[in-house]
Amino acid sequence: MITVKVPATSANMGPGFDCIGIALGLYNTVSVEEIESGIKIDIPDETGRFLPKDGRNLVYRSMVEVFKAAGRKPKGVHIIQKNNIPVTRGLGSSSASIVGGIIAANALCGANMSQNDIVSMAARIEGHPDNTTPAIVGGMAIAVTNNCNTYYQKIPVDKSHLKFAVFIPNFILRTKKARSVLPSSIPHSDGVFNASRAALLTASVMAQNYGNLKVALEDRLHQHYRKGFIKGVDKIFKKAEESGALGSYISGAGPTIVSIVKTEDENKFLASMSQFLPQRLVDWSLIMLEVDNMGARLI
Ligand code: HSE
Repeated sequence: MITVKVPATSANMGPGFDCIGIALGLYNTVSVEEIESGIKIDIPDETGRFLPKDGRNLVYRSMVEVFKAAGRKPKGVHIIQKNNIPVTRGLGSSSASIVGGIIAANALCGANMSQNDIVSMAARIEGHPDNTTPAIVGGMAIAVTNNCNTYYQKIPVDKSHLKFAVFIPNFILRTKKARSVLPSSIPHSDGVFNASRAALLTASVMAQNYGNLKVALEDRLHQHYRKGFIKGVDKIFKKAEESGALGSYISGAGPTIVSIVKTEDENKFLASMSQFLPQRLVDWSLIMLEVDNMGARLI
């Protein structure tokens, strides 16, 4: 069997709506083999209760795209998905399926796709490149799709100084629903607001100038419109700042929230938040993750 390990991703990083994401150290694995006929899909964990196990399965659909590109059709496919990334929470679980499926099928059928081909195909299947790209290349990735090709740049992130506090609620938010409330146009000033912060965020992460993150993580393109779906978001933003976070943002389409914390402040931050959450926001749990600078890999 061929097995691919794929990291979770936090897209829409600050002002980077639909274009900046980061890979985090929480993983799904996708194992595949060709069989004589049919589709056999095993998902042993609890996500197996609601993820499709037929031709609609995202790992399978992504594999089929690769076989098609290689001019082949699989006889039959056996897939085993082991999922640790929470589903429909804004942490890139569908991207992990797409990326796992493409990379596994690429190895299985000898399609010989380059990383660029994989990045572009994954973005096309997902519909936007900000989860799939960091899942493939690791680190923080800036990704822009133009005429079916995705242009991207990976920025390795300083692992020793930054931690990612990931607040996950017990409710879901579907991307389609979260996109439905976004306006079709925005004021020019909001465009300037986000473009300036996206540039500042990128340059500051590269230069390890973390004092800029409070402003560099601000957004006016999606968070405000989506907050109505995420009960508790303002309280978490406020408490995270009081507890020493460098900045916070809604991860992907939500409802997960990510706060970036200096490693040296992690204990103080955790002590404060782990008192606050059970008292004030029982629907939320908190895990601390590191960046994954490697991206998806065959294991
Ligand atoms: N950029 C996407 C969105 C991420 O906000 O809709 C969700 O997958």
